[in-house]
Amino acid sequence: MAEKIRVLLSEEEVNKRISEIGQQISKDYAGRQVHLVCVLKGGSFFMCELAKRITVPVSLDFMSVSSYGGDTKSSGVVKIVKDLDEPLKDKDVLVVEDIVDSGRTLSYLLELLGQREPKSLALCTLLDKPERRVVDVKVDYTGFNIPDEFVVGYGLDYDQKYRNLPYIGVVEID
Ligand code: IMP
Ligand code: MG
Repeated sequence: MAEKIRVLLSEEEVNKRISEIGQQISKDYAGRQVHLVCVLKGGSFFMCELAKRITVPVSLDFMSVSSYGGDTKSSGVVKIVKDLDEPLKDKDVLVVEDIVDSGRTLSYLLELLGQREPKSLALCTLLDKPERRVVDVKVDYTGFNIPDEFVVGYGLDYDQKYRNLPYIGVVEID
C-alpha cells in the first residue's frame, strides 16, 4: 500500500494563522502569565510556534495521553502516559492540542486538569473536525476547521510518521 500526501494547508497558511492566534492570546491574557500545557506528541510543533508569537510572559509544561494506536480510528481509551511536572493551582492554563476529533481526549483531559484548581482553563487547537464530535468540548482558540479527513504534518502523525512535515496534508492510501 502506497501512501501519498495531498497538501491541505500550506506552511504559509498555517504560520499566518498561528501568528493571528498568538496575537489574540497576547491580547486576551494582557497583564497575566499564560501557562501553556502541551499535549504530546502532536501538540509540540504547534505549541513551539505559538509560544514564539505570544508577547505576554509564558511558561510551559508537557503531558502525554494516549487515545490512538497505529490506526486511524479512535479507540476511545484515554490514558495518562506522562503527567505534568508542575501543579496548575492558580495558573492561567491554556491547553495546546494538535486536533480535536471525537473530543474524547480533550473532554477527559480538561475535566482532569480542572480538578487541579487552575485560575482559568482554556483550550487552543490547531485543527478541529467538528463533524466528528462525539463528546462536547468548548474550544477557545481554533486554527482551522477541517473536513473529516485523516491529516498529518505539523506534529500530527500517521503510524508515527509525517509529524515533521511543515504543512498539513491528507493521507491518501492507494
Ligand atoms: P479525539 O479524542 O478523538 O478528539 O482525538 C484526539 C487525538 O486523536 C488527537 O490529539 C490526535 O492525536 C488524534 N487524531 C485525531 N484525528 C487525527 C488526524 O486526522 N490525524 C492524526 N491524528 C489524529
Ligand atoms: Mg494529540
